[in-house]
Order: sequence, then structure tokens, then C-alpha cells
Amino acid sequence: MSSALKEYLSLSQERVEKALEDRLPSEQLLPQKLHQAMRYSVLNGGKRMRPMLTYCTGKALGIPLETLDGPACAVEFIHVYSLIHDDLPAMDDDDLRRGKPTCHVAYDEATAILAGDALQALAFEILAKDPTISATPEARLKMLISLAKASGSQGMVGGQAIDLQSVGTRLNLPELENMHIHKTGALIRASVNLATFAKADVDEDAVIKLDHYAKCIGLSFQVKDDILDEESDTATLGKTQGKDKDNDKPTYPALLGLAGAKQKAQELHEKALASLSDFGKEADLLRDLSLYIIQRTH
Ligand code: IPE
Ligand code: IPE
Ligand code: MG
Ligand code: MG
Ligand code: MG
Repeated sequence: MSSALKEYLSLSQERVEKALEDRLPSEQLLPQKLHQAMRYSVLNGGKRMRPMLTYCTGKALGIPLETLDGPACAVEFIHVYSLIHDDLPAMDDDDLRRGKPTCHVAYDEATAILAGDALQALAFEILAKDPTISATPEARLKMLISLAKASGSQGMVGGQAIDLQSVGTRLNLPELENMHIHKTGALIRASVNLATFAKADVDEDAVIKLDHYAKCIGLSFQVKDDILDEESDTATLGKTQGKDKDNDKPTYPALLGLAGAKQKAQELHEKALASLSDFGKEADLLRDLSLYIIQRTH
């Protein structure tokens, strides 16, 4: 990881941890068990890659970070809700997440379902009314529509449905790509797009190029996730290694082999960089993030 990215990540990670904490209901508030489960699942050491993307896109466009805490938290809350539900027995049936027992193991299945539901609602409430968002009502509406589409049946949830119905089948490359673009790519794309809506006068061409960048890294993120599931270890990942094979999931390494999957991740990184070719140094953090995504160890 470049030293500039390292420095920026630790600064903005601190920023997002506080922003998330501030926006979560207190454990003292009724129903306490539900609020505890929400806080347990959010405040447990995620990489915060999606908030980082929102902040780094803001940096590329000269948007003040203070106005991006709302969108950054909204995407992370949707992401955490998706992880809680992804880990449920009815889905991937995982008992370890971010190095700790999954929500349904630490609490119970019903609480985990409800914690996910409530985090999803909180994400949209934040976009609708967070006072730190300085965007116009029209721009807020764009953010709401973008996150809703990215989360729903034509975004993350649709991708998860394809994932579950594909267990035990052999998808071809376009089908696998379609699944990954939806289940993981859509929310990563929204993390970038939400920042572009935060500023009134962003050049249309820049928005298109940033969206293309986001599409590439959204896919490379899941390709790398599949690679790590195969070649990393449980302690490093903080989630059980080898689950994709156990669950007979269609993945990039399963289809292309590990070397082929790594090649695919590298190609996507190069495409992501090419999308940013019109940007100057202000987009260096985005370039570094793309590289980090394919080089990360967890
Ligand atoms: C894991 O996401 C699930 C995918 C969509 C691939 P992350 O690797 O971003 O998980 P955390 O947030 O760091 O735990
Ligand atoms: C998850 O994909 C995508 C989501 C929308 C949560 P995975 O099932 O591969 O994620 P991990 O490996 O459990 O984090
Ligand atoms: Mg899954
Ligand atoms: Mg999973
Ligand atoms: Mg995985």
C-alpha cells in the first residue's frame, strides 16, 4: 500500500468509525437487544472500504469530507446489513465475521434478521435527513435513488439471489460476472456515485469516468474476495476460509483457476486506472485503492 494511501486510510478510518458510532442508536435505547446487535455488527473492525471510496472520490472532486459522512455511513450500514444476512443459516451459514461470532451466533437468528432490517432503514433515513449533508434536496433524492437501486433486486439483493440459486451449478464467465457485478459491485459503485452527487457542478464526463472506475473495482473486489477464500487462512480473513468450496459456490478461482482469477483481477485494476486517465494527482488515492483492493490480504 502506498504511504499516501496508508496515511489517508488511517485518518479517514478514524473519521468513519466516529461517524458510524454517532449515527447508531444507543444500546440503552429500547429495544436494547436489537440496538446492541446493530452496534455489535457495525463497530467490529471492518475495513470500511466503501466509506473510503466515498471519501476518496470526494477528494478527487474537491468535496469537503465533512459533507460526506452521511453517504459514507449509509453505504457501510447497507454493507453490514448485507453481511449479517449473508451469514445467516439460510444463506452462507457462517459463524465467524470480522474475527468474531456472526450476529446470529452472538445473538439469535431473529435478532440478526431484524438488525439487518434496521440498518437498512437507518441508511436511507441518514441520506434523507442527515444535517451534515449539504446537497440540495434534488441531489439527496439522487443519492436515495442510487443507493436504493444498488441495494435492491436489481443490485446487491438481486446478486445474492443469483448466488444462492447458483449453488451447485456451473455458471459461465458472463453469468459469474453478472452475479458479482450485482452482489458486490453495485454497492461499491454506489459508494463512488453518492460522492459525485454531493457536489452541484461535477462535470458529466467525470461522473461517467468515475462510475466506470467503480464498476471495475466493484468486480475486482469480489474476484479478490473469491481468491482470498481459497488461498488465505481463517485467522487473517476473520471469516472461515474455504467456505465457497464447502458451499459449492461458483467463484472466479473455481472457473478460471487461481492464476486465471488473479489475471482477471489485474486486468480489472488496469481498466480502473484507464478510466481515471483524465484525472490528475487528485485521483491518486482512487488509483492506490484499486491496487490495494487486488493486493489486500483480507
Ligand atoms: C466482504 O466485504 C463481502 C463482500 C461483499 C465481498 P468486505 O471485505 O468489505 O468486508 P469487511 O467490511 O471488511 O468486513
Ligand atoms: C457477499 O459475498 C456479498 C454480499 C452482498 C454480502 P460473499 O458471501 O462471498 O461474502 P463473504 O465472503 O461471506 O464476506
Ligand atoms: Mg454469500
Ligand atoms: Mg458469505
Ligand atoms: Mg466470499
